[in-house]
Amino acid sequence: MTSDDRTEKDRQLDGYRVDQRDSVLTTDQGIPVDDTDNSLKVGERGPTVMEDFHFREKITHFDHERIPERVVHARGSGAYGFFEPYDDSLSLLTRAEFLSTPGLRTPVFVRFSTVAGSRGSADTVRDVRGFATKFYTRQGNFDLVGNNIPVFFIQDAIKFPDFVHAVKPEPHNEIPQASSAHATLWDFVQLQPETTHMMMWLMSDRALPRSFRMMQGFGVHTFRLVNEEGLATFVKFHWTPKLGKHSLVWDETQKIAGKDPDFNRRDLWESIERGAYPEWELGLQLVAEEDEHAFDFDILDATKIIPEEQVPLRPVGRLVLDRNPDNFFAETEQAAFHLGNVVPGIDFTNDPLLQGRAFSYLDTQLIRLGGPNFPQIPVNRPIAEVHDHHREGYHQMLIHKGRAAYHPNSLDGGWPAPAADKGYTHYQERVEGHKIRKRSESFRDHYSQATLFWNSMADWEREHIIAAFRFELGKVDALHVQEGVVRNLNEVDHDLAVQVAEGIGVDAPGPPITPNHGRSSPALSMAHEPADTI
Ligand code: HEM
Repeated sequence: MTSDDRTEKDRQLDGYRVDQRDSVLTTDQGIPVDDTDNSLKVGERGPTVMEDFHFREKITHFDHERIPERVVHARGSGAYGFFEPYDDSLSLLTRAEFLSTPGLRTPVFVRFSTVAGSRGSADTVRDVRGFATKFYTRQGNFDLVGNNIPVFFIQDAIKFPDFVHAVKPEPHNEIPQASSAHATLWDFVQLQPETTHMMMWLMSDRALPRSFRMMQGFGVHTFRLVNEEGLATFVKFHWTPKLGKHSLVWDETQKIAGKDPDFNRRDLWESIERGAYPEWELGLQLVAEEDEHAFDFDILDATKIIPEEQVPLRPVGRLVLDRNPDNFFAETEQAAFHLGNVVPGIDFTNDPLLQGRAFSYLDTQLIRLGGPNFPQIPVNRPIAEVHDHHREGYHQMLIHKGRAAYHPNSLDGGWPAPAADKGYTHYQERVEGHKIRKRSESFRDHYSQATLFWNSMADWEREHIIAAFRFELGKVDALHVQEGVVRNLNEVDHDLAVQVAEGIGVDAPGPPITPNHGRSSPALSMAHEPADTI
């Protein structure tokens, strides 16, 4: 990278970088240390003395090095880069200038992750991959916290703790680490048919990406773009890799997990080091507000895609990753992505999964990163100016001047004051209804799109999916759980269910009770294009 290519974020980080070459060792108080190999003792073989401040500080700091890993997506790798829109055509639809200012390179930090495994688990497991992008825009940080699969396991965020408890290692013996082959996951799956579509993707080669550089990313939810006039358009975000989509095969992933557990992490790091910068195109699916109910599924249901035959992708810009972090812990581990971080021109919808996420991320980061001042950590700091009335808290790094940390005030001239019409205005959606604890009827069909996915698969992809179900479900030590999953699969495709049943030694089901959920749709969306396995 030449110095001209450096982003504003990169220059901001200069103020935090510490180069310790040619430096003498000091304590945290800046006192030069004469010897760091021997503790201070009474006599050559005597006891260590309490007054050895260097010893005390060195051990104390070490004792406190670990912070909690992320409750999900604990294993990940990150890189910096930029996003650049192709043209200004989105300016009619959104106030978000990073999407519509040609030539404007917005700095980004992207973190890829697996979901279930712990921080030290292997890369090439069968799992969803996180694809989280922090855009450091001039209007503040926008986080697109997505996955490499366009749908999700559940429809309502209140099910997330249940789902994650089922997917994580079992509580009595903490087995299995990062594997889909266990009874609790499949028990949850058989009892929650809304997982069916996502489980089809999870059993496909999409869950075995060869490289982070070769996988798609999806915002999953339907969001909103909002323009200067306050008019909204529904939007889905898609990342498409320039290198194409490529997967490993199951047998390879298992061998690689043993021989090089850092396979995907190493690939990302090394490709950036040698200048082969990974690149993605951002594409949007746009749906007019008045077409909200024009589909035979609910666009607020995160277990559904919008088929690209119905709403084609509109290419809007490119993402390039061109710099590795200097320090894994400081940057990648302390990065805090939050679905609730949006900029003017991007807004939420009433998707109940999205709404719950808008609470969860900040909440978890308060404990993971030690209190409310983690947005001041360098990787999380916006390049936009920050002025607020927040004060104190653990690890406060700023020295706020003045007397008035409240609004309105007359003692500090009223500052900082709200930006009025230049500020973020929430989309003024009209909403009314009874307060009820109930899933929408429009979220009821759990099988049609699973069938659509199955129908779009090539023969060899179907073989891989059947083999995956047999491998993972075959290890479950509860017959009724296996039978329950097969019953759900029967609603997706009878032949699939029979083949899985035969492979794991349970009775094959008869024809489904409610056949043809799939409505024999010919749709073969780009999202369903076969992953090229190499
Ligand atoms: C972390 C994606 C649903 C809670 C993450 C990360 C990604 C992600 C990519 C890792 C971010 C990073 O790299 O640091 C998604 C997607 C979802 C989804 C695409 C569904 C569409 C949910 C739901 C909840 C949730 C429903 C809770 C109600 C969390 C939490 C973390 C996390 C607590 C850890 C964050 C941290 O410690 O910084 N998610 N997630 N997620 N997610 Fe989700």
